[in-house]
Amino acid sequence: MDKIRNFCIIAHIDHGKSTLADRLLEITGTVEKRDMKAQMLDTMELEREKGITIKLQPARMQWKGHELNLIDTPGHVDFSYEVSRSLEAVEGAILVVDASQGIQAQTLANVYMAIEAGLEIIPVMNKIDLPAAEPERVAQEIGKLLGVDPSTVGSISAKTGQGVEELLDRVISDVRPPDKEDGPARALIFDSVYDGYRGVILYVRVVSGVISTNSEITLMQSKSDSLALEVGHLAPARVEDPSLSPGQIGFITTNIKSVQFARVGDTVTLTSDSASQPLPGYKKVQPLIFASLYPTSQEEYPKLTDSLDKLSLNDASLSYTSENSVALGFGVRIGFLGLLHLEIIKERLEREFDLDLIVTSPSVSYQVSLTNGKVEMVEQASALPDESQIATIAEPWVKGEIVTPSEYIGPVLGLIVEARGRQTKLEYFDQTRAVIGFEAPLAEIITDFYDALKSQTSGFASLAYDWDRYEVGDLVKVDILLAGEKVDSLGAIIARSKADNYGRDLCERLKQLIPRQNFEVAVQAAIGAKFIARETISAVRKDVTAKLYGGDITRKKKLLQKQKKGKARMKQIGKVSIPSSVFMDLIKKG
Ligand code: GTP
Repeated sequence: MDKIRNFCIIAHIDHGKSTLADRLLEITGTVEKRDMKAQMLDTMELEREKGITIKLQPARMQWKGHELNLIDTPGHVDFSYEVSRSLEAVEGAILVVDASQGIQAQTLANVYMAIEAGLEIIPVMNKIDLPAAEPERVAQEIGKLLGVDPSTVGSISAKTGQGVEELLDRVISDVRPPDKEDGPARALIFDSVYDGYRGVILYVRVVSGVISTNSEITLMQSKSDSLALEVGHLAPARVEDPSLSPGQIGFITTNIKSVQFARVGDTVTLTSDSASQPLPGYKKVQPLIFASLYPTSQEEYPKLTDSLDKLSLNDASLSYTSENSVALGFGVRIGFLGLLHLEIIKERLEREFDLDLIVTSPSVSYQVSLTNGKVEMVEQASALPDESQIATIAEPWVKGEIVTPSEYIGPVLGLIVEARGRQTKLEYFDQTRAVIGFEAPLAEIITDFYDALKSQTSGFASLAYDWDRYEVGDLVKVDILLAGEKVDSLGAIIARSKADNYGRDLCERLKQLIPRQNFEVAVQAAIGAKFIARETISAVRKDVTAKLYGGDITRKKKLLQKQKKGKARMKQIGKVSIPSSVFMDLIKKG
């Protein structure tokens, strides 16, 4: 056990974690150079395509008589739950900072998490081979952040391998070995996957006791028994071992039948010699945004829920509820940790489970206090109770940090105000760069805040934020009416100060998207009984056969047939026919 070191790599997105993990695997001889492909630990097709890490990934290496267990973690803010779980399974963290960029927002967020988890942090600057690298300045920044002497900040190039051997030595000397704990077997499940051939595979960190192949095991929280069909470690492919001992990180292949029983955060113990208390586990993660997913073909609905059950094994933050919409049929409502998370889940369902899906526009969840004292959670404007019954509406707020070059501080503060937010802190790393603390309503941050921030700062600012609280806001429901009829699915909950602009913008877009009808159609936005915007779609008499000269009756018939088919894809809202694509178009641009 004294020879075991467990550590993870944390960094802002693109600062080089996965490349460093590649070098570590190569230098320790875990993966032969000829088998090496870039970003070895990004195993998912989607990860390799997008060049980002989505999933945490463990790998065991041998170095100078020691066993090193590494967990590579994602860098994007949407996947920080993966990072937080990894931190609980290790004693140390290599903090990678791009020497040409310096500390970024996600660097700060990760460092706070690592400190909270009580980890030994080994800071290194990466990409020192780049001409744009500024090692002296960046070492100062990191030294100031961690309260250490800048000369202790390591310098590496994950690309060329420079400094990486020294870094491995430092993992052995600086990271403490796992704590000794006696008693019955206890292992923390920090991840799990569903494998089509092998069933449920658990990734665990053993805290006490020994778990061997063929051990009868119990998952303590879900109270389910199963057999350890195979135990072993990842290198990074699965390698079978006779057993897993205290301090080790590895996998257990089980014969668990129902995927719901294999939750991350649960504790594995031996059925015959069970521990009395499970390990603390993880706090439930708070979804930030909600959206509905519908299969394009309704027969696929059971497949959708089955696939989600399997996927939720591999994505512990995922949970869903069923719902039924008049327009789209049966579907599921899911809470996500951010927009990238939504996009990734949709793509994984489509690729890994061969589904074709429609996604509705994402929204946040509101806390509505009623005049009768009850409190309701509302995610869609159409579910909002009547105005007369509402006392207050509270919306989710996030708090976060923006790291920016000093010359953009003015524009960044402007953006925060525009997003109905407040600045809470302004600190300088040095004369050139600053960190701005802020809080703001989540609904504003998920729309186009990130894009605006990037464009205002020529791409130099970075952003990290996290759920904070509910706060009562001056929020109203904006209804959309077509030819006088309210369209439920187009309603939205909006800040009163932004409602007029929102209503005007939506009416204009609908005017562009909805084809002319045989009569004039008013497109209106209203708050309660008060209209705030109006557009008019003028009437047209559409005779598709008119442009046909001559009397070719079969062509005429064909064309009328086609027109009829076109009508079938229309959705009737009151008197108005809308192509169903309009709803999708609004979502895409919304
Ligand atoms: P995520 O997994 O998305 O969080 O990113 P990451 O931190 O794993 O970064 P990744 O290893 O994918 O590296 C990002 C980019 O930087 C890639 O294009 C790498 O080739 C490049 N890179 C990484 N390390 C070095 C280095 O030492 N020198 C140079 N020149 N480029 C590097």
